[in-house]
Amino acid sequence: LVGMKIFLHPKKLAYDYEQEGLKDQIVLKFGHVVAENTPKGLAAKKFAELVYKKSDGKIRVEIFPNGMLYSDIEEINALKENKIQIIAPSTSKLGTLSSRWGVLDLPFAFPNYEAIQAGLNGSIGNTLLQSLEKEHLKGLAYWINGFKQFTSNKGPIRIPKDIKGQTFRIMQSNILKSQFEQLHAKAIQQPFDITFQSLQSGKIDGEENTLTNIYSKKFYNLQKYLTISNHGYLGYVVLMNQSFWNAQTDQTKKILTEAMIETTEWNEKHAKKMNEEQLKLIQKKSSIQIHELTNEEKKQWMIALDPLYDKLEPIIGKDLIREIKNLRE
Ligand code: LMR
Repeated sequence: LVGMKIFLHPKKLAYDYEQEGLKDQIVLKFGHVVAENTPKGLAAKKFAELVYKKSDGKIRVEIFPNGMLYSDIEEINALKENKIQIIAPSTSKLGTLSSRWGVLDLPFAFPNYEAIQAGLNGSIGNTLLQSLEKEHLKGLAYWINGFKQFTSNKGPIRIPKDIKGQTFRIMQSNILKSQFEQLHAKAIQQPFDITFQSLQSGKIDGEENTLTNIYSKKFYNLQKYLTISNHGYLGYVVLMNQSFWNAQTDQTKKILTEAMIETTEWNEKHAKKMNEEQLKLIQKKSSIQIHELTNEEKKQWMIALDPLYDKLEPIIGKDLIREIKNLRE
């Protein structure tokens, strides 16, 4: 008991910090829901390393992967309450703030990684980042993961009617829900960290995700079929609590900004490669049946889903729909 008292004594704590020269150290908690070996997991680590180095150890970013602190449905509120200082939710989940974010979720919105970058670095990305100001959130960057694929146990997915009647786990996004409804499939919005469990129990037949998420969370072990469909984008917006940001010195802001720019460049270079490499690992480690959509099949999906661009215009906005259509051409 006596020992415990000494350990918890505030003066003793202060002394320890001074000893280590860490008295003024700034600590930022960065939480995310994916595994470390993913585009987001590695970008978070890189950012923490860069910040530490650039600040000579004065700023420390503590990373909490795999939803250790907050699940994806909790993290936005936790950030607003400054319980955590940085998060990087998938943009799909920002639909809870504004349905305009759904523009990035539209089916086959981006034909390739170059188009994703053009969209995020251009006016679509800027418009969405600015919309965060009224939420008192500071948008720092977009990090890319890649394209979503389908996995299922019920049967191979080649053409739209193959998913009819199947149940899929999707992210918290009504825009995504409407895509499954359009094809007469059932979509259940669930946190990322219970997807494995839901697949295991058979509560859902399948899910849609990037190859790095399918690989790192071992969904491929529970699924018989994987379709390389590239039917939707999955990427992140890195967010900071606005008041926390405002309270920092110019020097700290400069360090965080520079580290974020370098990390984002790194992410842009590596995201595609990581997804390609992890597809190879899935092939090597499992007997999951893989089908890549032919151009003819892809056309069928686009014909079936394209009406959503007009249907969802009232909630996404004419301006954003026009811009995303331009990018597709
Ligand atoms: C998901 O919920 O499937 C993804 O958003 C997880 C992630 O953050 O990549």
